[in-house]
Amino acid sequence: MEFFIDTAITEEIREINAWGVLAGVTTNPSLIVASGRDFREVVQEIAGLVGGAISAEVTALDAEAMIREGREVAAWSDHVVVKLPLTPAGLQACRALTDDGIRTNVTLCFSVPQALLAARAGATYISPFAGRVDDIGWDGIDLIRQIKEAYVLGGIETKVLAASIRHPTHVVQAALAGADVATIPYKVFRQMVTHPLTTAGLDGFMKDWAKRAGGEVQK
Ligand code: G3P
Repeated sequence: MEFFIDTAITEEIREINAWGVLAGVTTNPSLIVASGRDFREVVQEIAGLVGGAISAEVTALDAEAMIREGREVAAWSDHVVVKLPLTPAGLQACRALTDDGIRTNVTLCFSVPQALLAARAGATYISPFAGRVDDIGWDGIDLIRQIKEAYVLGGIETKVLAASIRHPTHVVQAALAGADVATIPYKVFRQMVTHPLTTAGLDGFMKDWAKRAGGEVQK
């Protein structure tokens, strides 16, 4: 399973990208607003930092306007993947942009039928929102598992991008459910890398190392 980071804050992207683990970045209108930056400027900066697949979401709601906006956003960088909502207009735009050779990420997916439609409309990625499904008392990871199973049975190449990931256990569950990609918030990456036994173990090694002749504690 590949890792994307789910943020438009470039400081967060730089920090996690330095670990060498990122294959892309996802943004959405809320995350762009939270970054306080101009949409085009921040997407182009992110594309320069990470490369890979950088999802940038259209904000138009009707198909013709979505297609126009999708073509414009895709021209910002070869790394841009156009993110489209899972609506009839979004499917229509997905088919048109796919036929143009533009990669797409169909977002706000909450059911297997929706995921099957997006795949047939040519989506490169489908984004089921695990956390938001959990929020209404259903099982977000089971949704990811079912979408992946249906895609494998149907020989569908659309990649399952687990989104709305809220904690490290979601990441593990998404991987075991067969997700191709998980898009993970900065906070969850920090939670994933940290383990108290790693911290205590390293502390012990460094203390022992300092005891050798002429040794000093590393700052
Ligand atoms: O990028 C879309 C998705 O990951 C949103 O997550 O936590 O707002 O449900 P969340």
